[in-house]
Amino acid sequence: GKDIKNICCIGAGYVGGPTMAVIALKNPQIQVNIVDINEQRITDWNDTDLDKLPIYEPGLKEVVEETRNKNLFFSTDVDTAIDNADMIFISVNTPTKTYGKGKGQAADLKYIELCARQIARVSKTDKIVVEKSTLPVRTAEALQGILSSTGNGVKFEILSNPEFLAEGTAIDDLLIPDRVLIGGNNTVSGKEAKNALSSIYEAWIPKERVLQTNVWSSELSKLTANAFLAQRISSINAMSVLCEETEADVDEIARAIGMDSRIGPKFLKSSVGFGGSCFQKDVLNLVYIAKSYGLDEVAEYWDQVIKLNDYQKRRFADKIIKESYNTVSGKKIAFFGWAFKKDTNDTRESAAIYVADHLLDEQADIIVYDPKVSEERIYADLEYLNTHSSEEIRNRVKVVSSHSEAVNNAHAIAILTEWDEFKAYNWKEIYSKVLKPANVFDGRNILDKEKLVNVGFNVYNIGK
Ligand code: NAD
Ligand code: UDX
Repeated sequence: GKDIKNICCIGAGYVGGPTMAVIALKNPQIQVNIVDINEQRITDWNDTDLDKLPIYEPGLKEVVEETRNKNLFFSTDVDTAIDNADMIFISVNTPTKTYGKGKGQAADLKYIELCARQIARVSKTDKIVVEKSTLPVRTAEALQGILSSTGNGVKFEILSNPEFLAEGTAIDDLLIPDRVLIGGNNTVSGKEAKNALSSIYEAWIPKERVLQTNVWSSELSKLTANAFLAQRISSINAMSVLCEETEADVDEIARAIGMDSRIGPKFLKSSVGFGGSCFQKDVLNLVYIAKSYGLDEVAEYWDQVIKLNDYQKRRFADKIIKESYNTVSGKKIAFFGWAFKKDTNDTRESAAIYVADHLLDEQADIIVYDPKVSEERIYADLEYLNTHSSEEIRNRVKVVSSHSEAVNNAHAIAILTEWDEFKAYNWKEIYSKVLKPANVFDGRNILDKEKLVNVGFNVYNIGK
C-alpha cells in the first residue's frame, strides 16, 4: 500500500480541527496541515493561549498542545498544503441551501465544489481525496468529474470517510469510536487508497472497527445514521406529549423501553427539541434526495422527524406563555443555557434560539446566561432569523455572565441546555431572587423536581 507522509485538511472547523489533531497525535510520523480561508479561525487555532482555541471541546487543548507545530500546523495557505499532500481531507461546511432549487432542504455543495476545483488546479502529483464532510449520496461522482477534467495526468482516488463524532465529546469519540467508515472504489487503486486510510486509523483503533464499503454506501450511511438518531429523539418527544396528557412519565418510559436490548438505553432523553448543525440539515437533505428520486413516501416519512421537532420547540414556548397567565409581554424570562447541548460553545440550530424567538413574538424580555456562549453569538443567532429587528433584539434580550444576575426579579426560569452546573446551583437563593409564583420550565428534565418544589418553585417538565 501507499505510505502517507503528508496530509492536508481543508476546513478548520468543529470536525476538521479535532479530527486532524487526533490523527496527528496518533501518527507522529505524518505531517498534518489544516487550512482554512477564515483567517481569524486560523489565528485562533495558532494562539499561544490554548483557552483561545476557536472551538471548545473537553480534552482538545491538551491534544493541540502536544501536536501543534510538531506535526500539526494551521495555516491559510491552502495551495501549498494541497501541493505537498499525499492525502487531502475535505472538511468544509455543507449547510442547507438558502436560495434557488432545493432552498431550505438540499445541501449547499458550493464549498465542496470550490475545494475540488482548487485541488484540480493546484495538484502536480497523485492524491487521495477524502470526503470528510457529510454529503449527499453520489457526490463522489461530481468530485471525480471535476478532478479528472484537468487532463494533466494527475490521478485522484476519491474516498468517503464520514465523521460520526458528537460535539462536546469529540475527543473521546475520536479516540474510542464505535467504528470508522471508509468507502471507496473496489478497483485495485481504490482498495489501495482505502487501505492507506485504514492504516492511519489503525494506529489506535482496532482493525475490526475500521469498516470498508463501496463509496455510495459510505456516503449514504452517514445520512442514515443521523436520520435514525434524530428519529429516536422525535419518537421519544412524541411520547412526551402523550405523557403530559396521561400522567405517564417519559423518563420512566425511556428506562422501561431502553432495557429491551433491541431498543437500547441511549439517545432516549426527551427534551425541548434537538439542535446542532447536523440533524436537521442532514434529515432535510435526505428528504430532498428521496424527493429527487420521486420517492415521496420516503421523503414524507423522514420529514415528520423535523416537523415533530419544530412542534416540540414551539410547545415549550407555548407552555411558558400559558403558565404565565397567557401573557409574557414585558416579563423577564431567565434562560439557563443557549448552546444546543452541554459542553460546547456551538449554538447552531439550538432549540434556545427558536424558543426565544417565539417569546419575542409575545414581547417577552429574555435574560440569557450560558457558561460558554458569547453575547455577540446570541444576538447573531436571533438576528439571523430575520423575524425581529436588531434593535428590538438588543432591547429585549440581555446576556449576563452569571446565573445569579439572570434571575433577579425574573418571572420564570427556563432550562434550555443541560449544563451540569445548573443542577448544582443554590436553588434556595435563586428562589429568594425571583418573582412569585416562581416558575421553572425544565426543558431538559435535569433538575431535582422534588427538591425545587420543597423550596417553593412550580416545576414544569417535558413529558411528566
Ligand atoms: P464548520 O463550519 O465548523 O467548519 C468548516 C470550515 O471550512 C470553516 O471554517 C470554513 O471557513 C472552511 N471552508 C469553507 N470553504 C472553504 C474553502 N474553499 N477553503 C478552505 N476552507 C474552507 O463546519 P463543521 O461543523 O466542521 O462541519 C464540516 C462538515 O462535517 C459538514 O459537512 C458537517 O455536516 C460534517 N459533520 C459535522 C459534525 C459536527 O458535529 N459539527 C459531525 C459530523 C460531520
Ligand atoms: C450528532 C451525532 O450524534 C453525531 O454522530 C454526528 O456526527 C453529528 O450529529 P451532535 O449534533 O454534535 O452529534 O450532538 P448530539 O449528541 O447527537 O445531540 C444532538 C441534539 O440532540 C442536541 O440538541 C441534544 O441535546 C439532543 N438530544 C440528544 C436529545 O434531545 N436527546 C437525546 O437523547 C440525545
